[in-house]
Amino acid sequence: MTSNTTALPPHPLHQRHIVLALSGGVAGYKAAELCRLIIKAGATVQVVMSEAATRFITPTTMQALSGRPVVLSQWVSGSDAADANGMPHINTTRAADAVVLAPASADMIAKLAQGRADEIVSLMCLARPLNAGGHSVPLLVAPAMNREMWQHPATQRNLAQVAADGATVLGVGNGEQACGETGDGRMLEAAEIFEDLCMALSAPLLAGKRVLITAGPTYEPIDPVRGITNRSSGKMGFAIAQAARRAGAQVTLLAGPVALPTPRGVQRINVTTAADLLAATQAHAPQADIFIATAAVADWRVAQVAPHKLKKDGSGQPPALQFAENPDILATVAASPRAQSGDLYCVGFAAESQDLLANAQAKRQRKGVPLLVGNIGPDTFGRDDNTLLLVDAHGATSLPPGPKADLAVLLVEHIAARTLQRA
Ligand code: C5P
Repeated sequence: MTSNTTALPPHPLHQRHIVLALSGGVAGYKAAELCRLIIKAGATVQVVMSEAATRFITPTTMQALSGRPVVLSQWVSGSDAADANGMPHINTTRAADAVVLAPASADMIAKLAQGRADEIVSLMCLARPLNAGGHSVPLLVAPAMNREMWQHPATQRNLAQVAADGATVLGVGNGEQACGETGDGRMLEAAEIFEDLCMALSAPLLAGKRVLITAGPTYEPIDPVRGITNRSSGKMGFAIAQAARRAGAQVTLLAGPVALPTPRGVQRINVTTAADLLAATQAHAPQADIFIATAAVADWRVAQVAPHKLKKDGSGQPPALQFAENPDILATVAASPRAQSGDLYCVGFAAESQDLLANAQAKRQRKGVPLLVGNIGPDTFGRDDNTLLLVDAHGATSLPPGPKADLAVLLVEHIAARTLQRA
């Protein structure tokens, strides 16, 4: 029996309402880009700026990007219908799904730590309401300051207090600073804060789980300059890594040679050959709860890798290469005691060219895995879109055609449901 999941998942920021608060800092320009990213993802943004923030980026810019007047003070005239009660510090967060404070200056962090409320940003943060779950509306704090200010014990003490009070402190980048010094304290890039916001607003379906993923092709050397590889782009595996991370998992991604960026918060280990991938998998599988093998592992390697470049010898005869079979990494892990006992949930992929259901069912048996994901290889290699057929003991579930990022979310939901059933 085959069931169909027809709907692709909405983006975690779709139809959300985000309050973007700025305190003073050169990194204010990054808040403009962050605002744009959040709106592009389908959310609405209400910008709130401290007086110091307006010294670095104008409210006009933030109003233009957010499409709403910026809240600049707790002292409104009352002529604004939205704040007719004269309390923007209360009204602003009542419909919010999250508050992002970026940049968060050392001074603003100190105010938050002390619960001070002498200007609009700190006042509004203090007035955040409890949401339906009994928690305050999430507050994400993106610090931005000079390296000496960052490492000062007072700042670190204040940040620890802010985190203990329930905010998510996002950490900082390292590098050249506006002041000309180099070190920790740069605000994260807009895309990094955006990703952390996506995670904060995603269902934590895999919280506390450790997920190990293989992705991309392997490269089997013939000699120091040539080798055998395949057309796997790694995009599906990287998308699953991001989806699992957003779902709260601790993710390790074993990546063959691909040039894709590492999803934020994911530990990436680069490998080259199938032998490397097997060694890395065996090193990490004992700590994992879920193993997802998307890598297109070369079936064979060259038995004797030539120490120097093979040359034409003028005879017209190509070199006689001998091949050896590579280990089946997925089958090896699936046969391990932890996988057999159900402590490690294994997921395999099958790139087929026809008869997806029959081939996926057969491969599921052959590999000895609870879940096998089928896709039509030639239709998906290197592309951003895919279609997936999930085959497990419950039957087959067909996911709709769509971006790999969306299918990865549906696959993670499926795996979370199955592993929860086992727990
Ligand atoms: O046998 P086939 O290559 O079609 O199996 C595909 C599945 O097995 C994928 O999940 C792939 O990552 C995994 N695999 C593996 N090691 C191999 C070959 C395939 O882990 N040597």
